Amino acid sequence: MGDAATYQITLAGSEQQYPCAADDTLLRAALRAGIGMPYECNVGSCGTCKVELVEGAVDSNWPEAPGLSERDRGRKRVLGCQSRPSADCVIKARTAPQYQSSCRPQRVAASLRLCRDLTHDIREFRFQLAHPVSFLPGQYALLSLPGVSGPRAYSLANIDLGDGDWQFQIKRTPDGAGTKALFDRLDVGATVHIDGPYGLAYLRRDCRRDIVCIAGGSGLAPVLSIARGVAADAAMAAVKVHLFYGGRGARDICGERELQALPGYGERFFYHPIISLPDSQPDSQPNSQPGAAWSGKVGFVHELALEVMGPSLPDHEIYFAGPPAMAQAVQAMLMAANVPGEQVHFDAFY
Ligand SMILES: Cc1cc2nc3c(=O)[nH]c(=O)nc-3n(C[C@H](O)[C@H](O)[C@H](O)COP(=O)(O)OP(=O)(O)OC[C@H]3O[C@@H](n4cnc5c(N)ncnc54)[C@H](O)[C@@H]3O)c2cc1C
Ligand code: FES
Repeated sequence: MGDAATYQITLAGSEQQYPCAADDTLLRAALRAGIGMPYECNVGSCGTCKVELVEGAVDSNWPEAPGLSERDRGRKRVLGCQSRPSADCVIKARTAPQYQSSCRPQRVAASLRLCRDLTHDIREFRFQLAHPVSFLPGQYALLSLPGVSGPRAYSLANIDLGDGDWQFQIKRTPDGAGTKALFDRLDVGATVHIDGPYGLAYLRRDCRRDIVCIAGGSGLAPVLSIARGVAADAAMAAVKVHLFYGGRGARDICGERELQALPGYGERFFYHPIISLPDSQPDSQPNSQPGAAWSGKVGFVHELALEVMGPSLPDHEIYFAGPPAMAQAVQAMLMAANVPGEQVHFDAFY
């Protein structure tokens, strides 16, 4: 942010050029300029944003990022999401309209307004942006945290009301640098820098199919945002939403209270929780009776979605989010259930 030098980036083989500040990245500056450059995670892990550096020079925010192999490095490939220009550049990159951001991402200062525990290790963080930036239900943002190298991606849990209120639901990662800063060092009133919105798993508002949302662990926020987006859209008043949420033990289960707050809960909004390890932890989740035994479903969240929705799954629009292992299991289940790929929208949480 601020007064960094700006370089000109040219897409080889086309007339397209865009400006990129020295403290921005090739990918994010392209998206800010309305160019549809492919990406997914934005944090160096997936490799979708690889581009070839034909001329010029870049520095990497994270030289060891797992999204780039040694072979890529030998071929002058760089990760668009990690590469800061230090000169004007010519790059070879695919572009496609589906990657264009309808809400252009911006870098904004934000102050922490409120924290609230949802479970023993998931906390809601509510930020007030210095000025409002639009986002779509299901999108995510990058948070730069004091003392942490590289921003972390977090999905928005709320919907955009034009007031700069951005809410996140974040799961503490044992020994995680970003979540340690968030949970242990960030006080209400503190300022961080937020960059967003990003992400392609946003609510398709022109689609009238009923919706299945599947989330595990840290993946609650985007599916809650999708459900809230449906509830707020009069044109989607006939759309039903089934939200499946999986945790390890009873104390990991959350989100029902937030869904219950939506008009039409039990009629068009349905909550289906499941745990995979019933004996793993004591029951201490805030939404349940202390000491109450788990009497709900036991198994994996993708299995429950298949059991409840059965052969109707391909008639639904599907949104899912969570850790890579869960995302792979959900994808395999949806393929086996013959759900068309264009009806499936997700962000894997690397
Ligand atoms: C699209 C997306 C949405 C997500 N949404 C949520 C959400 O809503 N809630 C939630 O709890 N989690 C979410 N995550 C996961 C989250 O971004 C973090 O990975 C998680 O909180 C652990 O972060 P940590 O810093 O505590 O752990 P760490 O182990 O310290 O870091 C984990 C991640 O940070 C990045 N990273 C690590 N080191 C560097 C570095 N030097 N430079 C740059 N990047 C680095 C990598 O992507 C790595 O996977 C999401 C992830 C993605 C990709
Ligand atoms: S978008 Fe750059 S590595 Fe995933």
